[in-house]
Amino acid sequence: MTVLVAFGTTGGGTGEIAEWIAGELRAAGLAVRLMPAAEVTDVAGYDALILGSALYGYGWHLDVRRFVHRFAGCFADRPVWLFSSGPLDDSADTGQPPPVPHACTALRELPARAHVTFGGRLTAEAHGWLGHVAKQLARDGQAGDFRNPQRVRAWARAVAVEIRTPSHETDRP
Ligand SMILES: Cc1cc2nc3c(=O)[nH]c(=O)nc-3n(C[C@H](O)[C@H](O)[C@H](O)COP(=O)(O)O)c2cc1C
Repeated sequence: MTVLVAFGTTGGGTGEIAEWIAGELRAAGLAVRLMPAAEVTDVAGYDALILGSALYGYGWHLDVRRFVHRFAGCFADRPVWLFSSGPLDDSADTGQPPPVPHACTALRELPARAHVTFGGRLTAEAHGWLGHVAKQLARDGQAGDFRNPQRVRAWARAVAVEIRTPSHETDRP
């Protein structure tokens, strides 16, 4: 079984989360294609999709929004999971923020089984305009790395189990 893990990232934090997820899926015996969402031109041949986006201004990364638009309806017969990465505090770990509207659209349009929010990362090492914002936030004590690799990896292992479970075993009567 081959899983597509596609992501949209500006500062690299979400891309690294996608790498952690891909690593767990591979460890579970699944074949994985890990790609920036903008580079995906064809989704035939994949048995499942995990799609993740960085959050900016309460929205998803443009590349991921475009992915959803391009492949709307294509996953009606294959399982899809979504994740967002953003909160620069521990709110993603202590309570589950509701999906942003773009994630709700993806849940409906692809469609997808579930959505989860993971913490984000914004540190002073970021480049360009992100680095500028990060330095400002750091002065206010708000910057940092709030991603939780253990939680991400545990989520990915649970998804791997679902992917490997024949759908008739999870169908409700
Ligand atoms: C200008 C700006 C806007 C942001 N807006 C949000 C937001 O609306 N919600 C959120 O949870 N995080 C927000 N964040 C935090 C980012 O989502 C976080 O830094 C994330 O890890 C970025 O992912 P990336 O490194 O993959 O681009 C924002 C960060 C910046 C710099």
